[in-house]
Amino acid sequence: MKISKIVEQIPSSGIRAFFDLVLGMKDVISLGVGEPDFVTPWNIRERAIYSLEEGYTSYTSNKGLAELRREISGHLLRKYGMDYDPEDEILVTVGVSEAFDLAIRAVVNTKDKVLIPEPSYVSYGPVTTLCQAKPVFIKTSPDNGFKITPKDIDRSCDKKTRVLILNYPNNPTGASYSKSELKKISGSVLKHNLICLSDEIYCDLTYDFEHTPFPTLPRMKERTIYLNGFSKGFAMTGWRIGYACGPKEMIGAMTKIHQYTMMCVPIASQIAAIEALQHGERSVQEMKREYRRRREFVVSRLNDLGLPCHKPEGAFYAFPSIKYTGMTSMEFSNKLLKKEKVACVPGTAFGPLGEGYLRISYASSFDNLKEALVRMERFLKTIKTVRK
Ligand SMILES: Cc1ncc(COP(=O)(O)O)c(C=O)c1O
Repeated sequence: MKISKIVEQIPSSGIRAFFDLVLGMKDVISLGVGEPDFVTPWNIRERAIYSLEEGYTSYTSNKGLAELRREISGHLLRKYGMDYDPEDEILVTVGVSEAFDLAIRAVVNTKDKVLIPEPSYVSYGPVTTLCQAKPVFIKTSPDNGFKITPKDIDRSCDKKTRVLILNYPNNPTGASYSKSELKKISGSVLKHNLICLSDEIYCDLTYDFEHTPFPTLPRMKERTIYLNGFSKGFAMTGWRIGYACGPKEMIGAMTKIHQYTMMCVPIASQIAAIEALQHGERSVQEMKREYRRRREFVVSRLNDLGLPCHKPEGAFYAFPSIKYTGMTSMEFSNKLLKKEKVACVPGTAFGPLGEGYLRISYASSFDNLKEALVRMERFLKTIKTVRK
């Protein structure tokens, strides 16, 4: 049987490929997964369990339960002053994964260009390609804090460029943007008449300053599809629930695709999300405090070990350089795994510009992190000895 040419063209996820190696190995400390090590807070789980006991087992409106859309709208208004109409400017999706897929499908035509800062979250490039649009990667590096600037956008745009993807706090670099940095970017978005897809799934995990949602900047609401969800902040990865907010016509177009593909998000997850928004904030803050403590420890240990690591402003990833070892990211990750049983994701899983870096998730217990860093130190010493 022949596979579609487009599907053939896209690579499998680099993270998966690496973690196939980890499967079956014993006593591995995995700092590879991009999900909280916390279980979903009990009150959220309990509300979902109770909903099942009460017999809530049906489909819901395609757009998502009206009560949930109202909660999302109220939450965004209270927290950020964002004003979205729950009736036609909010769509509940199967995670940000589906929200992103719908958004890009709803806005691009064949051969349109889509700007993607790289290193980048694994799905942006391949999903863009699946839409027969063209990803254009913008290089980011520690020199600019892994952030793009208006100049980068100017340099990368031509007449076919339609979309800018933003993701902050960022997976894999942890970089985030201040309000004034975002304002400058919004100037370029206007100048080039771009649509922005802003994936802010890690917004609750911003450590050093207030998070600024992109649609809150002047004139950005009408040209931004805002993507967010429950997976990271509320530790709800397995519930598969997220949402998109945007102009009515965009959300309408996305809802059309969603109707024919997903239909709706499982009702128990939607009820759990209502509870998360009503009574979950304290748990979010507790988890955030713990991630922040781990961040301080991991980043300072990595720098002490001679692996330069910029301070991530958000999310739960450190992205140190391993360039001085002379190894490729893949070589380094493989050897570290084989010799010391520590699994980290090679930077190249996030695009070729991730070469020379490693993604270390600190969504792992403090004890695991301590032990992993002891093992890394031992590993680095053996490299130095071999090189001398
Ligand atoms: C930047 C980013 N966007 C989206 C997702 C997918 O999130 P969800 O679980 O809501 O589909 C992830 C998951 O790791 C992510 O890191």
